Amino acid sequence: MPARINPSILAADFVNMQRDLDRISSADLVHVDVMDNHFVPNLTFGPQMVERIQAVTRIPLDVHLMIDDPDHWAPGYAELGAYSVTFHAEAASDPVALARRLRAIGARAGIALKPDTAPDAYLDLLAEFDQVLVMTVEPGFGGQSFMTQTMPKLRRLRAAVSAAGLETWLQVDGGVTEETIVTAAEAGADTFVAGSSVFRADDPAAQIALLRETAARHIH
Ligand code: DX5
Ligand code: ZN
Repeated sequence: MPARINPSILAADFVNMQRDLDRISSADLVHVDVMDNHFVPNLTFGPQMVERIQAVTRIPLDVHLMIDDPDHWAPGYAELGAYSVTFHAEAASDPVALARRLRAIGARAGIALKPDTAPDAYLDLLAEFDQVLVMTVEPGFGGQSFMTQTMPKLRRLRAAVSAAGLETWLQVDGGVTEETIVTAAEAGADTFVAGSSVFRADDPAAQIALLRETAARHIH
C-alpha cells in the first residue's frame, strides 16, 4: 500500500513560506495547520494565507482545522479549493452534516480525534468521512513526542475500515519520525504528517523519501 507523506508547514519558516514549499515539492500533500487560539492555545493563519499557499504550490492542501465552530468556518476552506479539510470531532456540533457539506463542495472530508477522544461514536459512520486523523500529540504545537498510547485507537479504526470495505485514509499527526512512523504504519496508518522531522532535516526531500519508504515497508 502506498504511504502518503504530508509535511506540516507549521515547522516551516513563515516568512519564507514559498521557499520552504519548494523544498517539499515531492510531498504527497501539504499539511496546513489552522489554529485559532481558542480550540488550541496557539495561533497560525486563516483562509487568506491558505489561499496564497494554494496559489504558489502545485501540491494539494491537507487543511487541519484546530478551531472552534468548524460547522461555520470549515466550508470556506473547501470553497477556496483545499483538497482535504479536516475538522475536530470535539469542536463540531454535527460532524456528519459538516462532512457532507465539505464533500458537496468538492473537498475530501476529514475528522480529527484528540489523543483522549475515543473512536466509538464514529466507527459506524466511517463511510461519511474520507479521512480520520488520529492525533498522536495534543494539538497546538509542533516538536512534541509521539504518544504510542494512541495506537490501540488506530488499530480499532483500521479494523473498522477493513471490515466495512472502505478506502478511508487513516492519518497520524504529531511526533512522526523515521522511528515512530514504523509504529504508526504497523498500527494501520497510511497517511503521515511530519513537521519537525521534515523541515529540520538538512535535505527535506531526502527525509520525505526516507519516511515514505520506511512506512511502506511496514504498512500491511
Ligand atoms: C500539531 C499539528 C501538527 C504539527 C506536527 O498541533 O497538528 O500538524 O505540525 O508537528 P511535528 O511533526 O513537529 O510533531
Ligand atoms: Zn496538524
